Amino acid sequence: MAKISRNATSSFILLFSTILISMTLATAKSDSFSRNLSPKNLGLKREKLSHLQFYFHDIVSGRNPTAVPVARAAMTKNSFSSFGLVTMMDDPLTVTPEISSKLVGRAQGIYASASQSELSFLMALNFVFSEGKYNGSTLSILGRNSVFSGVREMPIVGGSGLFRFARGYAQAKTHEIDLKTGDAIVEYNVYVFHY
Ligand SMILES: *[C@@H]1O[C@H](CO)[C@@H](O)[C@H](O)[C@H]1NC(C)=O
Repeated sequence: MAKISRNATSSFILLFSTILISMTLATAKSDSFSRNLSPKNLGLKREKLSHLQFYFHDIVSGRNPTAVPVARAAMTKNSFSSFGLVTMMDDPLTVTPEISSKLVGRAQGIYASASQSELSFLMALNFVFSEGKYNGSTLSILGRNSVFSGVREMPIVGGSGLFRFARGYAQAKTHEIDLKTGDAIVEYNVYVFHY
């Protein structure tokens, strides 16, 4: 009895390892346009977590606006939330709330009024960094920005350069808003995993 059971166990182990080996072979197989790669092949070591803080300047008034409306619907003017308004921005990012402080990059992209019941934007933009080791690297944001809420959180969906494989979130908090002109200074805290 004990002998049979030992035999059964070894056949099971043999069968199981055959399945495992063929599974490994199957996943290691490449086809004409893809192959498996070890992260080491791309020089990727350990994933890091970084916190970035900067101030975003959205200037809509005056002779040199950094954000300009590019499209709207016929009904946008009758909507208290400007539903349908699409604005293109190239907003400076600085280290302190003063616009004259050191420039670390720009926020380039679109914000579009996407809610009929409150002022809330669809944000689709890239943070393009120009300072120090981050010069030339970007982070891509796609999220919802309900501008009169205290802290708005938007996902970071990817990045380039030092931010390849980036994931994380950005928190936006209004630092100052001029209700007459619409110009705003927004504090951003970005938490991002990258290599
Ligand atoms: C950032 O990179 C650009 C292009 O490579 C270069 O012209 C510029 O001087 C760099 N800026 C800083 C602050 O290093």
